[in-house]
Amino acid sequence: MVTDVTATAEWQALREHAAQLRGAHLRELFAADPHRGERLAGQAADLYVDYSKNLVTDETVRLLAALAGRVRLTERIAAMFSGAHLNATEDRAVLHTALRLPRDATLVVDGQDVVADVHAVLDRMASFAERVRSGQWQGHTGARISTVVNIGIGGSDLGPVMAYEALKAYRDAGITCRFVSNIDPTDIHDTIHDLDPASTLFVVVSKTFSTQETLANARQARHWLLEGLGGDEAAVARHFVAVSTNRQRVQDFGIDPENMFGFWDWVGGRYSLPSAVGLSVMLAIGADRFGEMLAGYHAMDEHFRTTPVERNVPALLGLLNVWYTNFLDAPTHAVLPYSQYLHRFPAYLQQLTMESNGKSVTVDGTPVTYRTGEIFWGEPGTNGQHAFYQLMHQGTGLIPADFVAFSEPHHDLGDMHDLFMSNFFAQTAALAFGRTAEEVAAEGTAAELVPHKVMPGNHPSTSIVAPRLTPATFGQLVALYEHIVFTEGAIWDINPFDQWGVELGKVMANQFAPLLTGTDVDLAAVDSSTATLIARYRRQRGR
Ligand code: F6P
Repeated sequence: MVTDVTATAEWQALREHAAQLRGAHLRELFAADPHRGERLAGQAADLYVDYSKNLVTDETVRLLAALAGRVRLTERIAAMFSGAHLNATEDRAVLHTALRLPRDATLVVDGQDVVADVHAVLDRMASFAERVRSGQWQGHTGARISTVVNIGIGGSDLGPVMAYEALKAYRDAGITCRFVSNIDPTDIHDTIHDLDPASTLFVVVSKTFSTQETLANARQARHWLLEGLGGDEAAVARHFVAVSTNRQRVQDFGIDPENMFGFWDWVGGRYSLPSAVGLSVMLAIGADRFGEMLAGYHAMDEHFRTTPVERNVPALLGLLNVWYTNFLDAPTHAVLPYSQYLHRFPAYLQQLTMESNGKSVTVDGTPVTYRTGEIFWGEPGTNGQHAFYQLMHQGTGLIPADFVAFSEPHHDLGDMHDLFMSNFFAQTAALAFGRTAEEVAAEGTAAELVPHKVMPGNHPSTSIVAPRLTPATFGQLVALYEHIVFTEGAIWDINPFDQWGVELGKVMANQFAPLLTGTDVDLAAVDSSTATLIARYRRQRGR
């Protein structure tokens, strides 16, 4: 294992290469190679990925692949797929890829047939979903379920809500899903106040079943349900199901374990959408479509597992992210889906990427000497164009961006999809090639305005295009990013599968709670800023 990746010859070679490449412009790189746009592209399952508009040459790709070789990326990939305990700080396997293995696959990990376990839960989910969707499963009063409310947070919310929104075109049983995550009481209030409890099903999703936000929201939901249905406790069993790894806590909460769908500690929260955590999505689109999504994930998994680094699309994109982060000093990365259905994709990716790679010690606990974990952000096109693209085009920073689009729309209204896609193509070209002062002047622009209208170009982007947004291509897209994250984590030698950094805030929130509500509280032990803020809050709350 490499101890400090920056001390390797491969890292040094990239550093020198970056220095040589500074000053190169995409205009020149394209002019020098008329086939660059076809050559620097790859196919992974149904996704066509053009990375030619990145600030790279063939030599960059070769050097990045050499770095991957140095950190034994291929071996690390094999280790993940085989169930090695890569999540060292929690001594756990990292096996979200097993969630989408086909039924006839085999994978025995720690003496357990993982594929059989996964499909047993999928079968239970499918049977439950079918009963709800067909109306066979009825609420306490005999009413059919028409609304599913997913209560969860982080990976127990962001994946399901993002997928539900992405696959809305495939909803086919008249079931609408809503999502509650925030402990701000406004969230649960606004989400359920206009619902009919008789036809509402709550899916409480929590890997640990100990998350403050989720339990508080679930308690409120339960209270609302019982109040609405006359107080008969028996109603809970018809209106609440749980998704968790912790059977005991589900039971303690008052949900019948018969109504619980399990998953395993080897599934990280932010990787859990293809597990039972996706139950609300399955309720909306059905088990067959859900299965197509899993098959899409699996197709990308197979690409990542079996393709040499030079043609391995997730590996290449992960390496490009390292290139920008560590060699070209780009701290952020934009993800810009040209699909309204993917409007929650950037939010989902924020947890996937930043909770995974926001680490500052290596796997063995040594502080890193290099930047890790870029900031991911974005909005769907074309909304972003009228908001922050100005900074991407003419700002001073380097912002690599992923543009995601689909050739076939779900709603082909007149020429709107072609107009939409012309924006997609225009933006990546404008970012890359810009407009020179000579070109601006030649348009008759007044001399004093020329510098304001110059578009420097040389802003990198990757175009990811699929034929159509289907459950399968959606699964491929999500798995693509999971594996990008893995690749980056491997280069940085960090553990992308734990999240200790979120713990302190949770502990302190529990410590502060009594200081907000108690009488005669002593704020002396609290820092002066927080004490002043709490005192002020208490006054405004009349305490
Ligand atoms: O925010 C930290 C975190 O542990 C995430 O990793 C996780 O997705 C989220 O909280 C929710 O956790 P749980 O599913 O256990 O409620």
